[in-house]
Amino acid sequence: MTLVKLEKVNKIYETDATSVKALDNVTLGVEKGEFMSIAGPSGSGKTTLLNLIGALDTPTSGEVKIEDRNTSEMSSSELDNLRLKKIGFVFQTFNLIPTLTALENVEIVLSIAGLSTSEQNDRASELLELVGLGDRLDHRPNQLSAGECQRVAIARSLANDPDIVLADEPTGNLDTDTGDEIIDLMRDLNEDFEKTFIIVTHDPNVAKRTNRIVNLRDGKVENED
Ligand SMILES: Nc1ncnc2c1ncn2[C@@H]1O[C@H](COP(=O)(O)OP(=O)(O)O)[C@@H](O)[C@H]1O
Ligand SMILES: [Mg+2]
Repeated sequence: MTLVKLEKVNKIYETDATSVKALDNVTLGVEKGEFMSIAGPSGSGKTTLLNLIGALDTPTSGEVKIEDRNTSEMSSSELDNLRLKKIGFVFQTFNLIPTLTALENVEIVLSIAGLSTSEQNDRASELLELVGLGDRLDHRPNQLSAGECQRVAIARSLANDPDIVLADEPTGNLDTDTGDEIIDLMRDLNEDFEKTFIIVTHDPNVAKRTNRIVNLRDGKVENED
């Protein structure tokens, strides 16, 4: 089943004086259950591409379809629902709320989804155990290592049982060994729960750990490995 389909996608950022073509005629399909990366140097359009797949932005021209639905034709409440239920996000800087514990950082997205307090607690604990943080539930981000923070963010990304997890430079703030452990965790989650992972990275060694590499350069898909 094709989860994500991009057809001749262009993205142009218009600013006062200039216009930047961040994506140039990108066509790409992602099947359910893939474990893949989008690789390329800084400025090649990786984050732009991920934001389109995550329905955080829409293309200037061309089509982005998630489960056969064109994101440009969806209402803002449909897009909100898509982002809340179908897509999980993981970022380079973790984006945890510093004043909340690991448990509360995961519970908060479950509360947005409407779960009761006890359901939030059960599910968040279960997810944190799954990522190896069963003994860190009450720690705040400043009491956790960078790798542990990224594990909390991964648990949070899975809270509403999304089909797709999008990770933008998830190892960018981690040392090599910790980064490898994070990619291994994502692979386990892909294999055990059939989650589709799309990992953006500028690091060829991270890309190599995935099953499929789409190389971007100057906004174009250069080749696939
Ligand atoms: N919001 C924006 N406004 C204007 N230009 C942007 C914006 N976002 C990205 N760009 C430009 O688009 C190009 C691709 O950026 P980006 O997708 O962030 O690349 P990457 O993630 O591969 O580093 C770059 O030239 C960048 O400067
Ligand atoms: Mg980027």
